Amino acid sequence: MECLCPPEPARAAEPAPGGRARRFRALRKVAAFGTMSVAAVLVSACGSGSGQDSTDDTALVAQGMQIFRFDTFGDESQWTDALRIHEVIAAAVDPATALSVGLKVDAEALPPAVVQGIQNGGIDLHSPDTTIALLKLNAVVGVQGKVETIGGKDTLTRVGITCALCHSTVDDSFAPGIGKRLDGWANRDLNPGAIIALSPALSAATKAVYNSWGKGKYDPRFNQDGANGPQVIPPAYGLKGIHRITSTGDGEDIAYWNRYVGVTQMGGHGSFSEPRTGVNVTNGTDDLITSKLPALQAYQLSLEAPPPPAGSFDAAAAARGQLVFNGAGTCSTCHSGIEMTDANSRLHAAGEVVSEPEPNGAPSYASRSATRQYRTAPLHGLWQHAPYFHNGSAPTLVAVVQMYNTSKSLGLSSAEMADLVEYLKSL
Ligand code: HEC
Ligand code: HEC
Repeated sequence: MECLCPPEPARAAEPAPGGRARRFRALRKVAAFGTMSVAAVLVSACGSGSGQDSTDDTALVAQGMQIFRFDTFGDESQWTDALRIHEVIAAAVDPATALSVGLKVDAEALPPAVVQGIQNGGIDLHSPDTTIALLKLNAVVGVQGKVETIGGKDTLTRVGITCALCHSTVDDSFAPGIGKRLDGWANRDLNPGAIIALSPALSAATKAVYNSWGKGKYDPRFNQDGANGPQVIPPAYGLKGIHRITSTGDGEDIAYWNRYVGVTQMGGHGSFSEPRTGVNVTNGTDDLITSKLPALQAYQLSLEAPPPPAGSFDAAAAARGQLVFNGAGTCSTCHSGIEMTDANSRLHAAGEVVSEPEPNGAPSYASRSATRQYRTAPLHGLWQHAPYFHNGSAPTLVAVVQMYNTSKSLGLSSAEMADLVEYLKSL
């Protein structure tokens, strides 16, 4: 379609505290229903000029949600046949243990009798059989189990994982770890390394690497390049309009990275090949991934960054902090435009980021990637997903600002830094 798009500068306005960008996105949605001005409708039709932004197809988005939550792409080959995680679950993973390694339970999948049983203690949260019952109800977020009756007993025969394992959490509305799904929110309680290390099929040395990662982190390249440098699990929301995906901007669209993870990390059936890194993997003889990528991508693009909770920041300080962001802090030289990133026009050398050198002597993460550079991170929803930077080297927004002030010799006063933090909390 021929687009009469507004010139780029129209998109470069800085969002106000509290998120003008979000209101702008909301406007675009309203515009789709034809109640807005002609100009707004044109913006809506144009997006940022790429097919990646076509999230208007409700059916496609709904299909994508099912894939995101429930599709294993046949990765039971990895989690059951190779890693034998189903045996570990059946033998030793009661719900209390599952919750302690960060697995989440979808309260909406629980029938009333089970809800009552959890509430009055009638259901034993210290029995692996209860975990199997929850899997049978399809209530464990990001884990798909096949439960069959063998010898009169419910038996877990296959297990696989979905995208939701790492990129969904729950709102804890029922109990800690049990509640309504929050898709796109990174599960920073999840300890994927510890879960994989439960496999009886791995060597002690490999288990030691997996056990070294900790909560909320995962190294999506370790099984390809052998280096150990875990990454913070990032949100899968707020990516609309951004055409460099992952912290190193490896892909131009989300589907590129979904294929990478689906094949090389989850173990789904299909192929991924990347000459820039030499990764070339094919699992199975069928392809259970390619046809699902458009819907999966549409769903992720529909997920907006969550707005900051009311009262979670000081609006006056945030307004002053915005001036620091655009002025003395020089932040907006890279965190520019509506999405607060220059990713669509350039990436940055490792020497420009404040998050290197990597912790624990790990090699530069950029050096392991396809681009060998970093993408300026988008900043909406920051309040929600500490720790910060690709390697989690800043535990808080205060730490982020201190790191910039020191490494870039910004000379900000403590009042300016405090205001800047309030602004970041408002995004
Ligand atoms: C075992 C945990 C895990 C699973 C499962 C997983 N991811 Fe990720 N995902 C990560 C990590 C870690 C990164 C960060 C990679 C990087 O920046 O190099 C990431 C990055 C991403 C990004 C890039 C975000 C950005 O800011 O550009 C998206 C989108 C994403 N994942 C979506 C998915 C989807 C969809 C699936 C299912 C096909 C999936 N992930 C499966 C851990 C996981
Ligand atoms: C030279 C370009 C550049 C400048 C200037 C810059 N940033 Fe960044 N910023 C980046 C890049 C690149 C990343 C991603 C680094 C990484 O993942 O380790 C990033 C990441 C971040 C993050 C982490 C986001 C997340 O999701 O973890 C925050 C917060 C941030 N920057 C805030 C700021 C603030 C505040 C300033 C000004 C004091 C600033 N940045 C100045 C390029 C820049």
